[in-house]
Order: sequence, then C-alpha cells, then structure tokens
Amino acid sequence: MIASTSKPAHGVAIAALAATFSTTALSAPPADWSQIPVQTIKLFYPGQSSYDWLKSPAHKRADGKVKAGDSCISCHEGEEAEIGAKLVKGDRLEPAPIAGKQGVMDLQVQAAHDATNLYLRFQWKTQMDRAGQMHDYMMYDGEKWVFFGDARSEEKVRSGAEPPLYEDRLALMIDDGKVPLFKNQGCWLTCHNGMRDMPGEVGKEQVQAHALIGKTLKESDVRKYLPGTRSDDAASWDKTRSAEDIARLKAAGEFLELMQWRAHRSNPVGMADDGYVLEYRLSDEGKNPFSWNVDRKTMTPKFMFDARKVGAKAITLQDIGNASKPHAIIREENAVAYDAAAGWKKGDVLPGRLLSRADASGSAADNADVKGSWKDGMWTVVWTRKLDTGHPADDKALKPGSVVSVGFAVHDDNVTTRFHHVSFPMTLGIGAKGAISSTAVK
Ligand code: HEC
Repeated sequence: MIASTSKPAHGVAIAALAATFSTTALSAPPADWSQIPVQTIKLFYPGQSSYDWLKSPAHKRADGKVKAGDSCISCHEGEEAEIGAKLVKGDRLEPAPIAGKQGVMDLQVQAAHDATNLYLRFQWKTQMDRAGQMHDYMMYDGEKWVFFGDARSEEKVRSGAEPPLYEDRLALMIDDGKVPLFKNQGCWLTCHNGMRDMPGEVGKEQVQAHALIGKTLKESDVRKYLPGTRSDDAASWDKTRSAEDIARLKAAGEFLELMQWRAHRSNPVGMADDGYVLEYRLSDEGKNPFSWNVDRKTMTPKFMFDARKVGAKAITLQDIGNASKPHAIIREENAVAYDAAAGWKKGDVLPGRLLSRADASGSAADNADVKGSWKDGMWTVVWTRKLDTGHPADDKALKPGSVVSVGFAVHDDNVTTRFHHVSFPMTLGIGAKGAISSTAVK
C-alpha cells in the first residue's frame, strides 16, 4: 500500500479508512503514481534490422557474437539515439524512410504490484498533435463505401492522396526465461526476412500454399515467430517444425507473451489484446475486443452510430481528429445495425472496426483493465495485469520475487509493422531487483 499521510483522530475513522484502502489496493492500480519510481527507456527506430541481418557479415564482426548469443547491449549500451537517428533517415537498413519521422523516443515506465495484479503505467509524447485513435475508416464516396486513410508507409498516404489514419499502439513482450536468448537479444529473435514489410517479403499465394502457416493457421502473410519453431539454422519462414514439436514447445512454455494496447481497437473499451509468439504471432484462446465492421460481400458497414446516443449516424471527413466526436463503434454502447437506406452522403465516415468488451472472452480477454488517455501531446496508459491469469497454455504466470525479461514497442504517428520504435530487452523485477523494479503496494 502507498503510505498515507492523513491521520484520522478516531478509531472508527481509521477502521473505515483501512477497509476502503484494502479493497482498492486489492483490485485497483495505485491511486497516486507519483510515489512509484519512473524509469525512462529509450525506444529507437530499428528499420529492417532483422535477425537474419544481425547474423550476417553486414553486421560488422558482430554476426558471430550474435550467433553465440551475446547480448545486444554488450556492444550497443547507450547507443539507442545514435542507431535510431541513422536508421530513420534511411542511411542504413531502411529503404523507404518516412520524411520527418523521429528516430528515438522516451517511454516512461512505472511498475507496482500487489498479491493479485501487476500494474504498469506508461507515458510517451506523440509526434503528431493528435491522438492516433482512428483506424480502418470507411468513407461513403457518393456511391459506395471505400476504405479511407492508412499508415504513413502506404503509397497513397506518402503521395498525399489520403490522410495518415492508423492507431497508436504500445506493445509489451515478456519472457520468463523459457525462450532461449530472449534475455540477451529480445524482440529481434522474432523478426525475420520474409515478414510483412521486411526484406524478401513473401507473397500471399506462397504463404497460403504453406501447409502450416497457410493451410492450418489460414494466414496470408508472415508475422513474428521464434527460431525454435523452425528446423534450419537460418530459421526460414517456411521451414516450420511439425505441429507436434510446436505443441511440445508451447506446453513447455517456450513462447513469448505479446500484448498490445491499441488506441482504436482496444482502448475505447478499456482493454488491451492478449497474444503470444511461437510459430506465428497468435492471439490467445478466446476472443479479443475487436472484429470487422465491414460485410466483405457487400462492402458495407455492419453497424452505424446510434444517432440517439451520439447525435449522428456517422461522422464526416471534417470530424476526423476532433476529440469531441466519437471515433469508435462499440456494439453495446453506441451502435445500431447499418441501414443502407439512411440517406448516406459523400464524406460520411464510419469505423471499419467493431469493438465489444461484452463479446471478448477467454484468455484473449485477460487485459480487461487497460486505460489510456491523451492530453497535451502525451499518452498515459495504466495497465492492470493479473499476475496469474489462470491461462497457462498461452500466458506467462508472473510471481512476486521473480525477474522476467521484457521488450517494449510503440507504434507512433500512424505507422504499422517495422515503422515502430523498440527497446533493447531489459529486466522487470516483480518485488525483486531489475532494470525496472516493481513496487509492492500491498
Ligand atoms: C560484438 C558486438 C555487437 C553485438 C553483440 C551486437 N552488435 Fe549491432 N553492431 C555492432 C557493430 C560494430 C555495428 C556496426 C557499426 C557501424 O557500422 O558503425 C553494429 C550495427 C548495428 C546496427 C545498425 C546501426 C548502425 O549503427 O550501423 C543495428 C540496428 C544493430 N547493430 C543492432 C544490434 C542488435 C539488435 C543486437 C542484438 C541482437 C546487436 N546489434 C548485437 C556490434 C554489435
């Protein structure tokens, strides 16, 4: 519990206060975060520094050391700003730089825990002077609905034909010592050539034809995976081990926790998603809070805003970025079934994603208390995570007194895939000493 300076005079008052405090402390983040130490972490732009590149001779004389398992910071400690500045400009490992993008950013992290939960508080400044809360928007063009706006890396946004509209995100990877090398080499273990927006990006047909990634997982692109799930030294995307081998790795806990707070797809319902990385970047069992609000056969929205609740059935182009207008459709809060005959006008805009806290379920819905607010150019996200979610099949159980390895990433200013900022791996001690040490609050 956080020390309180108030000293009520009467025993009755003390008892009442203690009762109030213990209930709050058992189930809620610290009321006063100013009591919890702040760690400032440098996140930097990694460009296309894939694991393949790190193990190649182009990574000057370091390829052998990376293969041997040496940590990145054994050579790069304190170099985040320098590396970020070089890569973001396209001097190296970035064939398609985004003009004006910052190379490095500060992420402030605070951690606390009680017997039930881990509480994390994050703060970072956004490069853009508005919250990145818009994502997969659809616009009525006078005849039909079309997707509108996209990530800054897309040609239609680079050319100025459409506005940058892509949600801000905060991602957190955790390993409890089960994934070989994560402690030293962090998220780079999961980043390979062949993935989306990486060198040698594999085409849709090729992925769909692959027995595991295409036919079983039903995916059409390559996303993060762990080298241990591949059978060759290069950890090639298509050299997957057998389903039995992968199931054995999962049962042994050889996967990474990967959770993302999403400013459009989870924040409006007070959640973050919950996934893991093994043979692919996968969602935990159950249902996360977002799905499509688009009927792919008719290419029309499934829901529109409930005008009785938000004042209009849709927003308009002019409303984009206006904080007083709704930016997300939430099934149980502000949505009604789409009416094709509602008199749609050119420039009407509806989110192409449908959110629902009520429909989220299972292990995928574990991050049920994650709230971000954007003010004066800064996101503040307060994240409550059960130490033990009760879902060991796809979650890491965190124990007081233990130290885990963590990696952070922020997708800032309308970007996706590699265009994020990342941290070198570091330790988080839960009531134990780490680069970030969590403070016991009860
Ligand atoms: C044995 C020392 C060593 C280790 C270990 C090492 N690196 Fe490097 N790294 C280097 C050197 C040397 C360069 C080249 C610097 C240059 O060309 O100016 C480099 C370059 C880079 C670059 C390109 C940026 C630049 O300044 O040229 C990135 C990105 C990078 N390393 C990431 C990593 C990551 C991630 C890891 C951990 C998986 C890692 N390195 C491990 C020594 C190391």
